[in-house]
Amino acid sequence: MDAIRIRGGRPLKGTVSVSGAKNAALPILCATLLSEGESFVRNVPALRDIETSVALLEFLGRKSVLGPTTVRVGADTGTSRPEAPYELVKQMRASVLVLGPLLARFGRAKVSLPGGCAIGARPIDQHLKGLEAMGAEIKLEHGYVVARGPNGGRLKGADFCFDIATVTGTENLMMAAALARGRTTLVNCAREPEVEELARVLNKMGASIQGAGTDEILIEGKESLHPFDHAIIADRVEAGTFMVAAAATGGDVLVEHAPVEHLEGFLAKLRRAGCVLTREEHGLRVVRSGPILPVDITTAPYPGFPTDMQAQFMVLMCLCNGRAVITETIFENRFMHVSELLRMGANIDVHSNTAIVNGVPALSGASVMATDLRASASLVIAGLTASDETEVRRVYHLDRGYEHIEQKLAGLGADIERVKGVAG
Ligand code: EPU
Repeated sequence: MDAIRIRGGRPLKGTVSVSGAKNAALPILCATLLSEGESFVRNVPALRDIETSVALLEFLGRKSVLGPTTVRVGADTGTSRPEAPYELVKQMRASVLVLGPLLARFGRAKVSLPGGCAIGARPIDQHLKGLEAMGAEIKLEHGYVVARGPNGGRLKGADFCFDIATVTGTENLMMAAALARGRTTLVNCAREPEVEELARVLNKMGASIQGAGTDEILIEGKESLHPFDHAIIADRVEAGTFMVAAAATGGDVLVEHAPVEHLEGFLAKLRRAGCVLTREEHGLRVVRSGPILPVDITTAPYPGFPTDMQAQFMVLMCLCNGRAVITETIFENRFMHVSELLRMGANIDVHSNTAIVNGVPALSGASVMATDLRASASLVIAGLTASDETEVRRVYHLDRGYEHIEQKLAGLGADIERVKGVAG
């Protein structure tokens, strides 16, 4: 297994470029299933989750070509099995995003249940209830969701209110409703920029979707949709991760293509922590030279502080000159980085979903590992701040969500390398 080895203690300096957004690319790749023709998805990051999506599309009869930043999803070969097997879904929960498009287009779908994951149980009950409201008959059989349209035919438009705002749930239902018969109103929707981006693509395909980005979305179902060519938005979480890395190391970094408009809740906290943020022509410059000030955060659905930035921000708070309280409200088990940060000399007390972080002057290097993507990113940042050596193991988590992370950080002056064949 690969590991990332870091000899930290160097302030990051220079310019880093943000890649396309993983969590926008995944639903958009699934949206290609809604039309028969060949589509192009551009500005796609080179990530393991993208490779898994391409494998899934191929399994579904869509021969695809994965270039450095573009995926060409081939036309329907007519051999489609509307089925997502466990082997692919277990590698990536977002595979469940094929359920809505397959059911809408083929009137049936069989998709493995994703099961629990490191950060929480993550049920998909809201996806299923929404599809049922649209007339689907759904059974759970041998670990699979087996769904059929009403009498094996097209879904019907419906009014559906989510019990809890869910990002992929909103995306799945939006895609299903785009090909349903009649009008669908979705209430209490997730407002994340990735939902809005998917709606933009669906509208390019000929769908009629209004209100994405607010909590109420109206969709007029169409008979058919056409293929598309679309370049996806920049990754707000990757951008935020580099910003925290700059701040934690006392650096000066221009984060090119940072989607500043999607980061406001997070940037307000970064500023309060003592960073100077300046908008420049091609991105946002982050400079931190004074002490790191304590800032409390509570994760919340967009536009609140993103759960996907909580672990990274906690590292910054580990080095603050006071005490910060971090509360996680989205996922029940998203403090897995804490035990590893403690091994690096952090002072953190966890009480249920709240972490009380008492700042320490410095962290020390150690061999660490994490069991999810953002926790792994936080350990890389911790390693960048420690003056001795840190080895972050199980890099495959990072490879799911950060394109060439060690190369990008090395470009900012970090002493960082990937080492092969380290025990997991
Ligand atoms: N939930 C339910 N029932 C459902 C769906 C969700 O109870 O049917 C709960 C979840 O368990 C969670 C909350 O609702 O407590 C919100 O989960 P959501 O469904 O919004 O999460 P998701 O769609 O599975 C996406 C991102 C995650 C990100 C969350 C929250 C993608 C592919 N994934 O997940 O990204 O953390 O939204 O913003 O878009 C990551 O990139 O590292 C990552 C985990």
